[in-house]
Amino acid sequence: MSVNVYFAAGAAHWPAYRAPLEQALAEAGVEAVLSDSVDRPEEVDYIVFSPGGEISDFGPYRNAKAVLNLWAGVENIVGNATLTQPLCRMVDPAMTEGMVEWVVGQVLRHHLGTDLHVLNQDGIWRHDRAVPPIARERPVAMLGLGALGQACGQALAALNFPVTGWSRSQKEVPGIRCLSGRAGLDEALSGAQIAVLLVPLTAETENLLDARRIALMAPGAFVVNPGRGPLIDDAALIAALDGGQLAHATLDVFREEPLPPAHPFWAHPKVTVTPHVASETRPATAARVIAENIRRGETGAPFLHQVDRTRGY
Ligand code: NAP
Ligand code: GLV
Repeated sequence: MSVNVYFAAGAAHWPAYRAPLEQALAEAGVEAVLSDSVDRPEEVDYIVFSPGGEISDFGPYRNAKAVLNLWAGVENIVGNATLTQPLCRMVDPAMTEGMVEWVVGQVLRHHLGTDLHVLNQDGIWRHDRAVPPIARERPVAMLGLGALGQACGQALAALNFPVTGWSRSQKEVPGIRCLSGRAGLDEALSGAQIAVLLVPLTAETENLLDARRIALMAPGAFVVNPGRGPLIDDAALIAALDGGQLAHATLDVFREEPLPPAHPFWAHPKVTVTPHVASETRPATAARVIAENIRRGETGAPFLHQVDRTRGY
């Protein structure tokens, strides 16, 4: 029997996802009718969702067996009271690759002091600075050891950065010193020269990086945030940049997106703003994840990457 799959992830994404989803569903052996609009919501079996898409009230989709998010982050949907169906988030291997590239790029930029030369092509031969540290002398705190944090942490460890990872539950990840719990967070940040934030936004993680925790880092440290804007106390961050405790922050995500033109981050000389581009879901690989979850739903197997609604991620 055929299943009805409603692509409610935004009209702009439909052209890029339609063919990959059709192909992935066929490869998974799922007979499906895929559509970007519905007349009878009660007949929808699976909803492909992304924030900003067509649905905010899931009530009419009362027979849907799962909502399959195209995003890794679920903070925009997990608290939706009309959502009673299982919610699965996206773990896309290509998105993970993209995040590794972005994080390693930002970390190496700060580690190598690349800006000094890129931003100063002014005829001055700047060869007078002290011998810079090599990676093994530059401790990195990786906050979050999930799909993305583990991959980024291991890539940095492969370059010899001493990586301390932090997560809610205790992990064992080759190459990474793993800590957990609130005390573990302080220990991970203590003396860190670079902190990378890859935890989800939940009630427990808002303002995770506050003034007290920033002060635990090594003076002149760098912050790289591809996680979510509210993970950082913005006022504390700016104060730490102005006071010299932090040398620079590269921020991809913000409390308000798009970041308003008048926001102080834009003009701050020690802040790099990137417009939520660290790593995007890729249609070809994400379609296989969606199709696999629909296959699982139809065969009674547990869904992949199902969100724990009480934990919030
Ligand atoms: P994930 O697999 O769910 O991993 C989340 C990690 O955070 C896990 O290690 C988890 O601990 C840890 N964590 C959650 N709550 C915690 C808490 N209260 N205390 C300590 N650790 C906690 O998520 P992911 O796929 O790696 O993605 C992480 C986030 O990246 C997403 O939620 C999203 O916000 C962001 N993201 C951004 C972009 C971008 O382009 N900027 C792209 C994709 C994703 P456990 O391992 O113990 O569960
Ligand atoms: C992007 O930010 C995502 O959560 O996938």
